[in-house]
Order: sequence, then structure tokens, then C-alpha cells
Amino acid sequence: MKYKALVTTEDNKTFNNSVQVKSLDFLPDNNTLIKVKYSSLNYKDALSASGNKGVTRSYPHTPGIDAAGIIEETSSKKYKKGDEVIVTGYDMGMNTFGGFGEFIKVPEEWIIKKPSNLSLSESMAFGTAGLTAGLCLRKLLQHGLKPDDGKVFVSGVTGGVGIISLMLFSKLGFEVTAITGKMNEKDFLIDLGANEVIDRNDLDVDLVSPLQKPIYSGGIDAVGGKILSNLICSTTQRAAIACCGMVGGLSLDTSIFPFILRGLSLFGIDSAESLLEVKEEVWKSFSSDWKLENIDQNIKNISLDELPTEIEKILKGKQIGRVRVVYD
Ligand SMILES: NC(=O)c1ccc[n+]([C@@H]2O[C@H](COP(=O)([O-])OP(=O)(O)OC[C@H]3O[C@@H](n4cnc5c(N)ncnc54)[C@H](OP(=O)(O)O)[C@@H]3O)[C@@H](O)[C@H]2O)c1
Repeated sequence: MKYKALVTTEDNKTFNNSVQVKSLDFLPDNNTLIKVKYSSLNYKDALSASGNKGVTRSYPHTPGIDAAGIIEETSSKKYKKGDEVIVTGYDMGMNTFGGFGEFIKVPEEWIIKKPSNLSLSESMAFGTAGLTAGLCLRKLLQHGLKPDDGKVFVSGVTGGVGIISLMLFSKLGFEVTAITGKMNEKDFLIDLGANEVIDRNDLDVDLVSPLQKPIYSGGIDAVGGKILSNLICSTTQRAAIACCGMVGGLSLDTSIFPFILRGLSLFGIDSAESLLEVKEEVWKSFSSDWKLENIDQNIKNISLDELPTEIEKILKGKQIGRVRVVYD
């Protein structure tokens, strides 16, 4: 059988993306074949599609760390043909061909059965970015963070992780400060639930002071670097931050004071390798207590052919919200 996939090829250190027709034996030898109905675009996919060897070691490759679809064939005892399933992370889209193809073949250990109150298309409106936001929120709630504790922040807020973090915090009744480089999106962010919107350039500076005005009881950080370094020092007593991204820089030049004088907790989140049962818990929350009725709005639906353009955009930090890949 033939199928269509985005294939990234390497030619003399140059990487090209094109949609190609492949036969199913192009796929790796794993025990479950899934017909992909939806995928979504994440920053990591753009790294894979542009030749980042820390993400993908060898090419040709089909990126796509997210997929939602229907099982076509499996030797699993847990799943059967026809099951609607979600696959995110682990090695998919990194060194195992991913969701930017009409079919994937993955080990059953990576698969989650779609919760009943969530559609396949909604699941890819969340995708890995949403799952990561959910994992951050889960960590903060486990820490004991509550809306009554005071303001929380979301950085990189117009991005995939940021936008869903904002929507989730708002749904749960938190007062949210949205931190963005796109102040022209202020009204949009307020519509989504932000109580205030501030310019990230004010925070993207060398550490202002080791102990700054205590403003935030918590937050979700998708950018790292100087912005996170300053936010760490702007927290209230017993605050908690979940960090997951590094678009603003890999290093932290911050202070130990907020940790030892204010009892700050800083949690790191890795969605790809999260335990399957933890991912299942978050997907279940997306279909129940954390259900976002407006998740389908502000999602850009694209075809496989449109992916290369969207990949360029996310690499330049110009993407707003989530991009969902829709197959026929
Ligand atoms: N740990 C994990 O498991 C995990 C999972 C998913 C993603 N991530 C990481 O989380 C980060 C965000 O992912 P995403 O999918 O949300 O990406 P995205 O859609 O590209 O969003 C990133 C956002 O960060 C802001 N930004 C861009 N360039 C920046 C810069 N130079 N300095 C500061 N902010 C900048 C922009 O928002 P504003 O213009 O609104 O500021 C941008 O929309 C990435 O680093 C990604 O690798 C980690």
C-alpha cells in the first residue's frame, strides 16, 4: 500500500522537506500500524525538519512527534483494529518516522486510547504542546498552587505551550499575566483569559536583582534564558514554576535567594519520556475537569503540503497558537 508523507532529506549538510509517496515497508518494524487522521506542529518538529542532529540523527526522515488516528493492524493484546488512539513523544518523530505521514508504525507501549469525551481532532489541537502545558499544570497543582495564592505567569504565551497554559490556568480560575514578544496580540490574549499582558523585552535583560518585587505565586515558562532568570526572582513565598522550553536561551543566570529565602520550587517538565500512565492522566483531564470547549478556535488547520511554510514560521518564533495537520 502507498501513503503520503513529508520527508526531510539531507544533501551535503542542506536539509529539504518535500511530500513524497512511499510504500508501507518504508515504515519501521513495530507492532502497531496506525492510519493517522490528525497530527500537529511543535517546535521540536521544526528542529527535526531543519536537520538538528540532537533531535534526529539520520535522514531521510519523517518528523511529527504527534499523531491521532485509528489502528489499522496490531499484534497487541491491549488494542485492536479500529481503536481510536493518540501517540505523542517517546522516539516518534525523532528517529522513528512520525505523524507527518498518513501512516505510522509504533510500539504499543507508546499508545494511549483516546478518552471518550475528546475527539481525535481535539486531541491534536492539544498535541505535545498541550500535553506539556497539562504536565506543567499537574505539577503545580500537586505542589499545592491555588488561584487564591495570587497571580501566575505564562511566558512564550502566543506559542503552542503558552497558549494552552493560558487557557488552562484561566479555566481553573487563576489570575494570569501573559508575557509575550507580540504586544499586538494583547486583545487576543485577553480574550483567551489573560488578566494582563506584559512585554517580554522588559524581562529579557541581565538579572535585575537577586530578589525582586514578589509578584507571582507560580507560572509556566516555555522560554528559559534571561526571562526565566528574572521571573525566578519575582516570586512570592512558597511559589512554584514549571519550566519546559528554551527558545529564549539555554542557560540560567539567576540567584539562589528565591529558593532559600522564599522557598521557591522549580520543576522541569519533559513530556516526551513521561510515563504512559502520567500522560493518560493528563489526557483524561483534558476530556473532563480541564475540558477546553474553545480549543478548536484559534487552531490553524493545514494539509501536509502546507507544512514546510509553517515549519519556517515556527523556527522564526512567528507562529501564533497551534497548527493542526489534517489528513483526508
Ligand atoms: N519539555 C518538553 O517536554 C517540551 C514539550 C514541548 C515544547 N517544549 C519546548 O517549549 C518551547 C515552546 O514550544 P512551543 O511548541 O510552544 O513553541 P512555539 O509555538 O514556537 O512558541 C514559542 C513562543 O516563545 C516565544 N519566543 C520565541 N522566540 C523567543 C525568544 N527568542 N525569546 C523569548 N521568547 C521567544 C514566542 O512567544 P511570544 O511572542 O508570545 O513571546 C513564541 O511563540 C520550545 O523550546 C520547545 O522546545 C518542551
